[in-house]
Amino acid sequence: MTTVSASAPGKFVILGEHSVVYGKPALVLAINKRFSIRVSRSKEYKVNGRPATQYNMSPHMMYISNKIGTSPVSIFVDGRVPSGSGLGSSAALSNAYAAAISAIEGLPTDRESIARLAYEAEYSAQGRGSPMDTSASANGGGIALNVPYDEKDFLWHIDNAGNSWDISRIDVPEMSFVIGNTGIRAATAPLVERVRKYRESSRFASDIVDEMGDVALDGLDAMRRNDLEELGALMTYDHKLLSILGVSCNELDRLVEAALPNSYGAKLTGSGGGGCMVALTDRPDRVAKAIRSHGGTPYIVKTGVPGVTVRNCSGRGRRRPRKKKPKQE
Ligand code: MEV
Repeated sequence: MTTVSASAPGKFVILGEHSVVYGKPALVLAINKRFSIRVSRSKEYKVNGRPATQYNMSPHMMYISNKIGTSPVSIFVDGRVPSGSGLGSSAALSNAYAAAISAIEGLPTDRESIARLAYEAEYSAQGRGSPMDTSASANGGGIALNVPYDEKDFLWHIDNAGNSWDISRIDVPEMSFVIGNTGIRAATAPLVERVRKYRESSRFASDIVDEMGDVALDGLDAMRRNDLEELGALMTYDHKLLSILGVSCNELDRLVEAALPNSYGAKLTGSGGGGCMVALTDRPDRVAKAIRSHGGTPYIVKTGVPGVTVRNCSGRGRRRPRKKKPKQE
């Protein structure tokens, strides 16, 4: 293959961010905001038509290129997942790039192989973290980590840095979610590090992390019963636990409060410190309006979307000679 395009979705976390880093349960849904990448064989590395540098080629991409040992490619990136917002943009980028490079090199592009490679890239760039975002983006739909599952739902198992995660797919009932972006970009690694230090230095913090794992399990139970009242209440409770851990901020709290009168529940999503919150609601338009009037940008997101996809487009873009129209007499 000489030209390949791949795409992978972003995600939001219903319950379990931060505690999942320590192997606790979590629930995540992929969303209809995607990262797309097209790669073609080239004499030198290029990104969006410019020579590749450490500024326009992310460490995730460099890791994947080095790991696979690919020959130079020209890369076109079209990222529709806002970065630093808790919606898994770097996981989506890693999945899309891993899939495109694997395909062009004739390597496996099944979801598990891509999820593993994307997680390695993410971990090498951040130096910490769980395979939650990368697995959600690779598989699409809804996934859970470290919950009881039926054999048929098992996806893959990942071990790293003394923790291990069983990743399984989950059935997701009809639900509607609105995401609210504070517009404040926050890197994941320092927030994960903040929670790690707090958890290690305080029994109180480590109990909160355990509690968040139990809340995620209760949330799965509520979801399986289609009990949106209960699931929403657990989300709001989880936001309070995350706030105690120090990963919320005034802007996130404001958007959560604004959403609550028209929602079953709301919470920050992702690593926090800025970025996004998410509300479970059956009045998405009202929640979107409330988010906007409190300074946020609302996204009424679709879930149940496909994971990483890859396609060979070597034939595309080549001009076919036009057939001359016969002259009309
Ligand atoms: C970030 O989307 C989620 C965190 O739990 C970090 C991770 O799981 O790697 C904060």
